[in-house]
Amino acid sequence: MIHEYIQSNQDRFLKELFELLRIPSVSADSRHASDVRRAAEYVVEKLKAAGAEKVELMETKGHPIVYGEKMVDPKQPTVLVYGHYDVQPPDPLELWNSPPFEPTVRDGKIFARGACDDKGQVYMHIKAFEIMMKHNLLSCNIKFMIEGEEEVGSDNLGTFVKENKAKLKADVILISDTSLISLDQPSITVGLRGLSYMEVEVTGPNRDLHSGVYGGAVANPVNILSKMIASMHDEDGHITIPGFYSKVAELSAAERKAMNDAPFDLNEYKRELGIDEIKGEKGYTTLERTGIRPTLDVNGIWGGYTGEGAKTVLPSKAHAKISMRLVPDQEPQEITDLFTKYFISIAPKSVKVKVIAHHGGEPAVTPTDSKAYHAASKAFEEVWGKSPIPTRDGGSIPIVALFKKELGLDTVLMGFGLDTDALHSPNEHYGIRNFLIGIETIVAFYKYYGGAES
Ligand code: BES
Ligand code: MN
Ligand code: MN
Repeated sequence: MIHEYIQSNQDRFLKELFELLRIPSVSADSRHASDVRRAAEYVVEKLKAAGAEKVELMETKGHPIVYGEKMVDPKQPTVLVYGHYDVQPPDPLELWNSPPFEPTVRDGKIFARGACDDKGQVYMHIKAFEIMMKHNLLSCNIKFMIEGEEEVGSDNLGTFVKENKAKLKADVILISDTSLISLDQPSITVGLRGLSYMEVEVTGPNRDLHSGVYGGAVANPVNILSKMIASMHDEDGHITIPGFYSKVAELSAAERKAMNDAPFDLNEYKRELGIDEIKGEKGYTTLERTGIRPTLDVNGIWGGYTGEGAKTVLPSKAHAKISMRLVPDQEPQEITDLFTKYFISIAPKSVKVKVIAHHGGEPAVTPTDSKAYHAASKAFEEVWGKSPIPTRDGGSIPIVALFKKELGLDTVLMGFGLDTDALHSPNEHYGIRNFLIGIETIVAFYKYYGGAES
């Protein structure tokens, strides 16, 4: 019945999702503030149309949060669905094969910024809710909280959650904003990495200089910064910041074995990325390197002349944005402090350095022995014919730790994207199959969680 309803309504579901994808809700870019709001209003409209009550656009100091609910019975448990309607900037535009905000279907995939992260996945929940309302299947209460600042660090969500604890009262958080292993092997994410995001500035001479007149006699901040960054990893790929690993939780041999039993094809991984060899911390597999080990990566680096042709210049300044992915039990503030101290300590006297911290977030591990996890697991078994494997994803959703702290709630990360969906990259996409089967799996989750069949 559900399957048939999804099939016969899939064109409309996609048409509605495409409308949402056409709105360039880039939270990082203030020029798009009104588009961000428009996306929020669209989510409001669709939640109302699906049958949600008390739907409202709640203001914050930044972009608004969409709230809606359907209380069927106060004695039944409540699921709080979290997602985000904001997206990453689409740059570099010239690398897109079709415009980022004009959803285009190729090869069974929807190409658009936000197709997978996270509009496509949020929309699955709205359509699953529509189906449950239409067929009178909703056997527990449901609340929606869809925010517009996830991609810029959820700065105002903490305050919002603290101020609305009663409204957000629930028994579990449900999020679709992570990846599956593949369409042949479902998985449920049980771990996310945390984040410390830094920006550094290295200053040499008080102005750009002629690189012939001064070159060789005055420190070049770009050269110096490159060397400082290079020294932050040793030959084995370990990070050299003192104390960086002191709180990293080591997994047992059995836990590591279970992680590495998940299907993973290294050759396919390399082929898909166009690389001849992988690289990472010695002593760990690729799944471990992204799942349970911390990292330090330059996200952007600039300085000096980068325009057309050649200009001979010894730059006055060099800059870099550096992120560190964290794992349990590392603390973002502590890592930020360790980085700052170390970066300043390794700077030669020939330059001055400035270090600033951007947003961060705590890592998270979610339980696999809860009623909600079991419901999610059974839902996958029913719809996919296979039981899902628990996995640890490399990305970050800092609010998962915040929900635990502020609301005391555990999260189930039931994501339907693929790591290869080009999140944050040009040509982001989302499989139509992932979208449709995701809707069906979410409906099945409620069936098992709502009581009747658990
Ligand atoms: N949905 C992603 C996180 C993600 C992607 C988790 C794939 C697991 C698998 C989320 O929108 C995101 O991009 N988060 C940011 C962190 C945030 C603080 C900007 C990230 O991971 O860089
Ligand atoms: Mn996301
Ligand atoms: Mn994202």
